[in-house]
Amino acid sequence: MSITTGDFRSKVTASTLLDKKRNHELITCLTAYDYASARLVDEAGIDMILVGDSLGMVMLGYENTLPVTVQEMLHHTRAVRRGVKRAFLIADMPFASYHVSERESVRNAARFIKNGGAEAVKLEGGEKRAHLVERLVEAEIPVVGHIGLTPQSVHAMGGYKVQGKTLTAVEQLMHDAIALERAGACCVVLEGIPREVAAMITGELEIPTIGIGAGPECDGQVLVFHDLLGLTFGPPAKFVRRYADLGTTISNAVLAFKNDVKASDYPSDSESYHLPKETATALESIAHRKRTVQL
Ligand code: KIV
Repeated sequence: MSITTGDFRSKVTASTLLDKKRNHELITCLTAYDYASARLVDEAGIDMILVGDSLGMVMLGYENTLPVTVQEMLHHTRAVRRGVKRAFLIADMPFASYHVSERESVRNAARFIKNGGAEAVKLEGGEKRAHLVERLVEAEIPVVGHIGLTPQSVHAMGGYKVQGKTLTAVEQLMHDAIALERAGACCVVLEGIPREVAAMITGELEIPTIGIGAGPECDGQVLVFHDLLGLTFGPPAKFVRRYADLGTTISNAVLAFKNDVKASDYPSDSESYHLPKETATALESIAHRKRTVQL
């Protein structure tokens, strides 16, 4: 199998993404949470890298994304920043970091740019976040919107449910998307909505839509790194395509190590360091002298 790597010629920016939409070039986005995954994703030529608050679940073992803090997000964003050269780097604003006051929200968002090295922040919500998006854009902070199934609203939604199924809900989603575009968002994530609705929104907006569980008509697609690689526990969501089963690969490697150590098969002589010849000879003659004295 040949590996197709991406276009390494130029840095991806918000305007690259707009150009891609205008030229009908599909946009790729993956999450990454540390230096190694960021390098691998970036070097494969993925256009956008999201330090998603999904890290709370896949990296930190929380039950949902709600406990994730700004500190935790910053820690991971900085690690990812060190691994990314080409992709457009987005950091998720965690729950309650943009819900209290506009002033605090702008300050928190600025930390992701100033201290985290992100090039944009993502926040969940449509019409009701439009004013905040305007304020952030005024403060020179590019914003990615996120509507539909917004995991930070898990309690308000009564679970992780596909959104936009009724006429009223479809209308609201359209209002949300348009409000975000008017407020200056550079693109919008559409999560967990019927493909027909995602297609309508994508056709209506000038900015790109990035889908996750929103069908193929979006301008781009995003997946969680751990879902793509089979590194999550439990059954995946309907929209997840697993491109590898690294969970099994890792378990087998760990088991093999355990068995080798227990059988004294690891490390071998070739995996061990050796003394220089002179030191070995000197040690040998000391041992020989000791043996002679004892006799
Ligand atoms: O946190 C995340 O990973 C996300 C993506 C799934 C869009 O918000």
